[in-house]
Amino acid sequence: MTTKKPHRGDMSLEELRRVGADVIEAIAQYHAGLDQRRVLPAASPAEVAAHFADALPEVGISPDEILRDWVDRVAPLLTAVGSPRHFGFVNGSGSMIGILADALAACVNTNAGAWKLGPAASEIERQSLRWIADLIGYPTDCGGIVTTGGTMANFTALVTALRHVAPYDSTPDGLQDSKREGRFLVYMSDHEGHVSITRVVDMMNLGRNSIRKVPSHPDFTMDSRALSRMIQEDRARGDLPLCVVAQLGSINVGAIDPIDEIAGICAEHGIWLHVDGACGLLAAMLPEMRDAVRGLERADSTSFDPHKWLGVPFDCGVVLIRDAEHLRRAFSITAPYLRGIQDDDHRVGMDFLEYGPEMSRGFRALKLWMTLRFYGTTGLRDSFAKSLELARQLHELVRSHPDFEVLHEPIIYLYCFRYRPRWLADRAGEPELRERLDQLNQEIAEVVQKSGLAIVMTSRIRGNVVLRMSICSQRTEPEDIQQTFDALAKAGRELSSLIEV
Ligand SMILES: Cc1ncc(COP(=O)(O)O)c(C=O)c1O
Repeated sequence: MTTKKPHRGDMSLEELRRVGADVIEAIAQYHAGLDQRRVLPAASPAEVAAHFADALPEVGISPDEILRDWVDRVAPLLTAVGSPRHFGFVNGSGSMIGILADALAACVNTNAGAWKLGPAASEIERQSLRWIADLIGYPTDCGGIVTTGGTMANFTALVTALRHVAPYDSTPDGLQDSKREGRFLVYMSDHEGHVSITRVVDMMNLGRNSIRKVPSHPDFTMDSRALSRMIQEDRARGDLPLCVVAQLGSINVGAIDPIDEIAGICAEHGIWLHVDGACGLLAAMLPEMRDAVRGLERADSTSFDPHKWLGVPFDCGVVLIRDAEHLRRAFSITAPYLRGIQDDDHRVGMDFLEYGPEMSRGFRALKLWMTLRFYGTTGLRDSFAKSLELARQLHELVRSHPDFEVLHEPIIYLYCFRYRPRWLADRAGEPELRERLDQLNQEIAEVVQKSGLAIVMTSRIRGNVVLRMSICSQRTEPEDIQQTFDALAKAGRELSSLIEV
């Protein structure tokens, strides 16, 4: 073990240059082998833990050795989220320009909470938000902020909604104000509403019973008539409908709720409309999706995750609030030690800590800004159109295979389907076989995961366990879809041959 004395409390510049070059080489090597890398590491949880049981060294060790550890025992024990065959959760692949941006943001150590701590960072964040609004057809004079992800973006939107919709000033006494009559209610679709909204109502202390699940149509989109009825009934009972969360690209099937109809209902009743586009908001920039997202520009707020489809390295979320002043009113806070405002120009002196829940904030906007510029409008459109094409390819494979069941049409890049061997098709509804099919689909996903070839996860559609693929990597090619589908079919064939009926 080589030890090293810090130079002026840090590395020497010579070391920085030498190790920095090695770091870039390690990044390049990682990406060179990404296609061949196991997607899920083979090590058991105990084996992983055993790699990280050593004590903190008494005397600091050399950066070369720390980097060697990264190459030998850290990177191999991480899931290859950037692999073209990582179809789990909804994880983007991470853009290379974003990797470099993160290093540069760390280089200047900007705290993007206050204008005075990074004037260009504030402008870059604002410019990125304007570009995004422009790309999706949302008013470009909107407010907004870059967050850690979709949950915090949804949280920011719903807190703003509460401040705006509450029939009293909710800042001093919040939910405990004696002027509150009735319960605040949040509406989302029963099947595809996302669990992050449950997390948000937990954080806001509204209580999980404040979520009203609106019935959905067979295509998994919210039934707006049912929504309208529920709101009227809830109002008549004395409750306070606060916000409707519409999905733009839902977690399982990529459903897009009828935003325009919902916007009309919200406007009629004075309810906040939030469009959760964590997975799919950027589909709005595709001409063929324009109709499906009609009404988006009427939403009071919308959110999306650049660390998903856009491929910005984790973590990065965005929320846009139609009226910037609503956002400021919800989060504005001052203290004598926080003054960052430039008295001569309010706009230039904007502090993002007054526009969102965080105070100190990383310079996340840099990787977003650089990724947007790297691809450009056409590059982004081409990349998103390609994901949609790959989802259609998968759909065709499922449709034409007698042992797979189609569950929905592909809408964006999220696709669910089910293995159901043809010889069981007629009896698939029998409770015992239904359970066996659930187990079979779970096992198929696990076999493919354990093989290291790909990560395919499961979910539940109308109560049944299904296979679920999120095809949002800019690196995925048609052969990755084919190879993964073939592996699923093979696992299905082998496992189902063991079923006794
Ligand atoms: C529709 C939807 N909303 C919100 C979220 C939460 O986003 P995050 O995990 O970035 O907090 C997700 C995550 O997958 C999502 O799919």
